[in-house]
Amino acid sequence: MDLIAKIEILDSTLREGEQTPGVSFSINEKVALAKRLDAFGVDFIELGHPAVSPDVYEAVEALNDLDLNGKKMAHGRASKSDINDVVAIGVGWMGFFFGTSPLSLKHKFNVTKSEALNRIETAVKYGKDNGLKLRFTAEDASRTDIDFLIQVGQLVQLAGADRFSLADTVGCLTPAKTKELVNCIVCELDIPVHIHCHNDFGMATANALSALEVGAQCVDVAVNGLGERCGLPPLAEVVTSLVNLYKVNGDWDLGMIPELTELVTSFSKLESTDNQPIVGKNAFSHKAGLHVKAVVKDPKSYEAISPESLNRKRTLVIDKYTGRAAIENKFKSLGFAYKKHDVTAVLNMIKSRPEKVDWTNEELISHIKSIGIQV
Ligand code: COA
Ligand code: ZN
Repeated sequence: MDLIAKIEILDSTLREGEQTPGVSFSINEKVALAKRLDAFGVDFIELGHPAVSPDVYEAVEALNDLDLNGKKMAHGRASKSDINDVVAIGVGWMGFFFGTSPLSLKHKFNVTKSEALNRIETAVKYGKDNGLKLRFTAEDASRTDIDFLIQVGQLVQLAGADRFSLADTVGCLTPAKTKELVNCIVCELDIPVHIHCHNDFGMATANALSALEVGAQCVDVAVNGLGERCGLPPLAEVVTSLVNLYKVNGDWDLGMIPELTELVTSFSKLESTDNQPIVGKNAFSHKAGLHVKAVVKDPKSYEAISPESLNRKRTLVIDKYTGRAAIENKFKSLGFAYKKHDVTAVLNMIKSRPEKVDWTNEELISHIKSIGIQV
């Protein structure tokens, strides 16, 4: 494993996140989110693509006026007009893209490879002549012929690009293919390599981490995994994996993850599912008797990451899967003195109501009292 010393996180919630069907953030929401993302410690914040609409243009202006620690990056096509927008607004970094796969060359641009190289080189030189720091993204890189992709990378590097980004635009990479691709590009270039993954097969996070394992420097994420179709790697999954599984010491405030999730849930109006890793309602809930018994003794028994490190709380679910240890734990936490047969009585009652999937404390207290057990 070849993780580079300073892994960077680029948050694309404000840019690609707004490409999620059903989502449109107001400028105020974008400003509020950018401030919290910056406090969390992302290295780059993608502000948006000014050419999309007047409100996105205005948002990029407002975001660029913020005093942030992270680097601000505007997004656009490899065209003079998009570069001019970014220069006019005064954003320091621009990320522009050009589709390099046969499908893109034919259907999007109707150009030959050498015409594409010309357009890309012209755009990079134009951006650099205008004082921009540049990330060039090979859109659909994962379906681009590898020799051509290397040629594009070397060309943009020579023309002055500061970063080269590989986009798995349709999410068709696997972790093994990602490693092969990224390793090959990292070996051919001197500038840092970025990775942009999509979750069409549910492999965005695994692919992004695989890219970092072989020398990519920066990974694109979005809060709650927003983005076109099935979205980008979720910020929470990538960052907690880096810290907990890869032992990376980033300056990221993991305790802010629930806040970021709630903010983006409320602005995007898209709820995450209960079993979503890290941020889902069930991520730190334990249910079966055996599990709860072990967790009460040592949470590590069934937790690879502690909820406290994420400013979250552990919950123990009471239903028909509950065992004696969970009920004894309940009696104690609710302040009841109990005997062995009391535990059996409460358990029998719970198991006779299989349709009830989460007993609340109030319901349990009322039942405990009804069978004559006192505090
Ligand atoms: N680099 C340079 N030129 C590009 C380009 C690229 N990556 N992509 C498209 N163009 C050119 C087209 O060839 C076309 O040129 P022409 O007018 O000479 O024929 C022109 O730009 C208009 O293209 P297009 O983007 O298709 O226009 P549109 O009106 O359909 O969409 C936007 C304009 C801004 C909405 C669109 O670019 C967009 O959807 N942007 C946000 C999404 C995005 O950035 N996706 C890619 C990364 S995830
Ligand atoms: Zn994308």
